[in-house]
Amino acid sequence: MLHNTMTYSDTNFNNKTILITGGAGFIGSNLVFYFQYNYPDSQVVVFDCFRSEATFANGNLQSFGHYKNLIGFKGDVVCGNINNKADLALLSDYKFDYMFHQAAISDTRVYDQEIVMQTNVNSFYDLLKKAKNDDAVMVYASSAATYGSLPSPQTEGKENPENPYGFSKYMMDQIAYRYSLDNPDMTIVGLKFFNVYGPREYYKAKTSSMVIQLGHQILSGNAPRLFEGSNQILRDFINIEDVVQANIKACNPKQNGTYNVGTSNPRSFQDIADILQQELGVDLGTEYIPNPYAGYQKHTQADISASQANLGFDPLVSLEEGIKAYIPDIKQLHGTDVS
Ligand SMILES: NC(=O)c1ccc[n+]([C@@H]2O[C@H](COP(=O)([O-])OP(=O)(O)OC[C@H]3O[C@@H](n4cnc5c(N)ncnc54)[C@H](O)[C@@H]3O)[C@@H](O)[C@H]2O)c1
Repeated sequence: MLHNTMTYSDTNFNNKTILITGGAGFIGSNLVFYFQYNYPDSQVVVFDCFRSEATFANGNLQSFGHYKNLIGFKGDVVCGNINNKADLALLSDYKFDYMFHQAAISDTRVYDQEIVMQTNVNSFYDLLKKAKNDDAVMVYASSAATYGSLPSPQTEGKENPENPYGFSKYMMDQIAYRYSLDNPDMTIVGLKFFNVYGPREYYKAKTSSMVIQLGHQILSGNAPRLFEGSNQILRDFINIEDVVQANIKACNPKQNGTYNVGTSNPRSFQDIADILQQELGVDLGTEYIPNPYAGYQKHTQADISASQANLGFDPLVSLEEGIKAYIPDIKQLHGTDVS
């Protein structure tokens, strides 16, 4: 961790009851440990279905939650499916102060619209109702995928999703907006994460960030494989620590809304490969392969003016700093079983 002794707000989460759906996943588990480390007297409850062996048509697992992301966690775990009301009822014994809703089909290449909509959208109504009943703050994960391939900079309010996943998050944003209007006393904030990377993403396998995927290619002694023209393909890569920061700051917004979470400083895939090789002390060159995707997004850049103004969000971690701090983790996981 880069800033593990750093808290991102004055809010004292000790003695608060905090739900983290998707808490066995990448972003959720990092939130779990942020609270456990900084607020040992908080009561953190993870709700996650964890992984089964079921796969989607694209061959990827249906859910990526992994117990290994939670080793060391001292709070409660409730294993359940957000699509199942009986499972959600297992949470009725708790009265939450904060809800961080991360659980979702996070794989942007699942095209079964029914299951994506059920999982990402229907459950949101149930969780908003629970937040209202409990008088809890609701912070939920939206996505930069709501923008589709719109040109940079991507700005809240101008979305054009181009896959079922992006559409599901776009619908969550509409639901949150209306819920906020109908319940003006509630705090409801959506966060449109751009390309997140960092520790505890390993178990997302092929859907993990290019930082860890290229890192492992290099550690195997292979040249990193990139699409042709990768020095011209830029993304807004955001470190997990800044994503945690955004979630914490979202608990005290100046106004409800859905806010971008990126650095506003896009970098190329080539930069990632180059920084990794520099940090790992190797020079294997780069293997370029043709890009099979028509309409591939070539540039993302979060407009973060609203998140800065209304959340006080201030991304701190540069790509160089984030990759450098991540190297020991990437090395330690290299060759370990992802299942
Ligand atoms: N990582 C990124 O770059 C990124 C970017 C934009 C948005 N997001 C969003 O942020 C959130 C967290 O993403 P992540 O990267 O940690 O992904 P992740 O897949 O690691 O985490 C999602 C978690 O939700 C759980 N889950 C999935 N379906 C479930 C269900 N039906 N019931 C209960 N639990 C279920 C999974 O087991 C997993 O632990 C997601 O909502 C994702 O869409 C992530």
